[in-house]
Amino acid sequence: MSSWLKVGNWVKVCEAEDIPLFEGRRTQIKGLYVGVFRTEDGFYAIGDVCPHMGGPLSDGIITGTEVSCPLHNRRVVLKTGEMKDDLLCRVPAFPVEVRDGMVYVDVSVLEEIPA
Ligand code: FES
Repeated sequence: MSSWLKVGNWVKVCEAEDIPLFEGRRTQIKGLYVGVFRTEDGFYAIGDVCPHMGGPLSDGIITGTEVSCPLHNRRVVLKTGEMKDDLLCRVPAFPVEVRDGMVYVDVSVLEEIPA
């Protein structure tokens, strides 16, 4: 999932069928690792580097709409990027759309954050 195409603010990252149910995949957009996840509730995209010690969240176990970091099992809410066990830490959460069987992610929310 390293190739992508920018359409407006949306970046096409893969075909929906590339991500099986209850799995995640890592992609890179504008130098940022983004984890794209498929749940029974739909697709989600969050920053893919765990704020604890850098674990790849896209390799974690999905339960409902949460993913557990594969290194130390901290849980991240896929809708918001909040860490369930550490309210001081979070990863960014990005809008996701599926159009014509393709998954698009919008990471422009990061550009709105002042430096
Ligand atoms: S690196 Fe994710 S919980 Fe430790």
